[in-house]
Amino acid sequence: MCGIVGYIGREQAAPILLEGLSRLEYRGYDSAGVAVFDSQTEALAVHKAKGRLQVLSERLHGGADLDSTVGVGHTRWATHGAPSDANSHPQVSHSGKIAVVHNGIIENYAELKAFLMEQGVPFTSETDTEVVAQLIEYFYQGDLLQAVGRVLRRIQGAYALGILCADCPDQLVAVRKDSPLILGLGEDCTFIASDVTAILRHTRRVYYMEDGELAVLTREGIQCFNHLMQPIEKEVAAVDWEIDAAEKGGYEHFMFKEIMEQPEALRRCLSPRIRDGEIVLEDFPPDFLRDISRICIVACGSSYHVGMVGKYHLERLTRIPVETSLGSEFRYMDPIVDQHTLVIVISQSGETLDTMAALREARRLGGRILSIVNVVGSSIARESDQVLYTWAGPEIAVATTKAYTTQLALLSLLALKLARARGTLSDSEYHASLDAFQALPDKMEQILSRRDDIQYFASQYFNHNSIFFIGRNLDYALGLEGSLKLKEISYIHSEAYASGELKHGTISLIEDGTLVVALSTYEKLFAKAMSNVVEVKSRGASVLALTTERRREEMARIADAVMTIPDIHDLLLPCLGVVPLQLFAYYVALMRGCDIDKPRNLAKSVTVE
Ligand code: G6P
Repeated sequence: MCGIVGYIGREQAAPILLEGLSRLEYRGYDSAGVAVFDSQTEALAVHKAKGRLQVLSERLHGGADLDSTVGVGHTRWATHGAPSDANSHPQVSHSGKIAVVHNGIIENYAELKAFLMEQGVPFTSETDTEVVAQLIEYFYQGDLLQAVGRVLRRIQGAYALGILCADCPDQLVAVRKDSPLILGLGEDCTFIASDVTAILRHTRRVYYMEDGELAVLTREGIQCFNHLMQPIEKEVAAVDWEIDAAEKGGYEHFMFKEIMEQPEALRRCLSPRIRDGEIVLEDFPPDFLRDISRICIVACGSSYHVGMVGKYHLERLTRIPVETSLGSEFRYMDPIVDQHTLVIVISQSGETLDTMAALREARRLGGRILSIVNVVGSSIARESDQVLYTWAGPEIAVATTKAYTTQLALLSLLALKLARARGTLSDSEYHASLDAFQALPDKMEQILSRRDDIQYFASQYFNHNSIFFIGRNLDYALGLEGSLKLKEISYIHSEAYASGELKHGTISLIEDGTLVVALSTYEKLFAKAMSNVVEVKSRGASVLALTTERRREEMARIADAVMTIPDIHDLLLPCLGVVPLQLFAYYVALMRGCDIDKPRNLAKSVTVE
C-alpha cells in the first residue's frame, strides 16, 4: 500500500507529482505529501497533509506555488504511526537535507532508531520510514548513492523508496525490494512510480525494477544498478494501456465504470484464447500441464473467492485434487507441494505481499507456478513460471469487479483446457462449454441493461444493519464475493454461509425482517436451495433471491424479491451471478452516501503482511 511518485525534468514538478498521486490514491488515502527542491531557496520544500490528496492539492493550489523541476510525492496507508501531518511522507532527515518516500515496512526500524537516537539524532515521527531518511544522512559523505547502499545493507523488510537530496538536485535515487516500483523514460525527464497509471500521461516507456535493484534518475536518463551496486543494462518495456482506461470517463465512480466495462474486458480476455473450437493459451512448454497430481490455488480477498470457484470447477472437470488457500495462511501451514503440484496464484495487482510470499514458498518446495494476473510486468507475474494475463485494463476502484470476472473466466477456461488434455471430458461437453464462453459477454450485457431493477431492490434494503448471503457449492463461493462486496463499500455487516451450515448456529441470528440474500443459480442444487429459503422465511427473514431465468417463477412463489441472470452453462454461473451482487452493493453504498471508490481503512494493493 502507499503510492510513490517521483519526477525530474524541465517542467514544474509539483503539478506532475500531484496529478500522479491522484492516480495512486487507490493504494492509500489517509495522508499525502510532496518534497521538491526549491530553486529559489536551494533547499528542500516539504508539504504534507493528513486526509485525502485533495487537502494537500488545495493547499498548494495544484502545485502552482512550488518552483521546482524535481521532487517526490506520496499517498499513505498508515502502518507505523496514525495518520497525521508528522507521520505523512516524505519523511525528512533532521537537517532537512534528505527526503524519502516509502512503500513497505522496515522491520528492524526500532533497533535502528534506538542506535540513531544514541548518536543524538532527533526524531519527529512514529514512522519506520523516518529511520531510512535519518540513516541516509548519517552515512552521507557527499555521495548519495553510496550512502543509500550502506543503508540498504542495514535495513530489513519490504521497501520501494524514492530519495531526494538537497545537495544533488539533479538526481533522484530509487530502490526496490518486495514492493512495486517502476521507472519511466520521458522526453528530457524521468519518473519513479508505484504503478504505470501514475505516469501514463507522460510516457509509456518503462523499466520494471527487480528486487534489490537501485536506480539513479536524471533529466537525461536512468542508470540502474544491481544489489552489488554494479551498473546494469535493462530492457525498456512499452505499456499498452490507454490513458482514458484509467479515467472515469463521465461515470460518477470508477467502480460503476468498471462494472459496466466487464463484457468488453471479458471479450478482450477470452476472444484471443478461443480459436476454431479450441482453447489456445499462452505458449506454455509442452510438459507444463502434464503429470499434475495436485493443484494448489493461492490468493487473497476476491481473488481467493475466484480460487474457491476454481476448486469446484477443476475438481469436477479434471478429477485432480485441488486445495484453495489464503495467501496469508499458505506459508505457515507447511503446505504439501512437489514438482507434480500445479500452483495457481491469482492476483489482480500482482503485488499482494501475502500472495507473493505464498508463491515463493511454493517455488521453494518445487511446485510449478502458474499465475493469473491483471497488471503486466508485476512482481507475481515476473516470478511465475507461466502467466495468464486477464487483460481487464487498469482497475482503480478499491473493490474489484472486472478483475474478478476476468480471473474467474480465465480460471474456468484453464479448467476446461486441463480436462480436455486429460481426457476427462466428452467432446460434446467440451464444445458446449466453449460455446458458453463465447456467449458470456452478451449475457452479461443483458444483466447490465436491467440494472434499474437492482437499483430498486437496493432502495428497498439499503438501511438494513446486517445481511446474510447463503448458497451451496458454486453459490456459496459466489455468496462469499457478494457479501465481501457489500460490506467493504457499504459498511453493512454481512456474512456468507454455506446454506447447509446455517442450522449449526447462525440460524439463531435470523429474526423478523433479517435480510437473507439467497443464491440459487446452480441448477443441480436448486431444490436444496429452495428448502433453505423456506427455512429462513419461516423464521421471519426477508429473502432477496438470485436465480436463473428458468427458475424465476418458482422462486418468486417463496422469496420476497427475485433477481435473475440468464441461463448459462454451470461453469460460468458465478461469472454472471456476481454482476447483480456487484450492482446491489454499489447501489446500496450509493444510497448510504459511502465513499465508494475509496472505502475506509482499505487499500487496493496490499503490500504489507
Ligand atoms: C485488496 C483489494 C481486493 C483484492 C485483494 C487481493 O484487499 O481491495 O479487491 O481482492 O486485495 O488483491 P490482488 O491484487 O492480489 O488480487
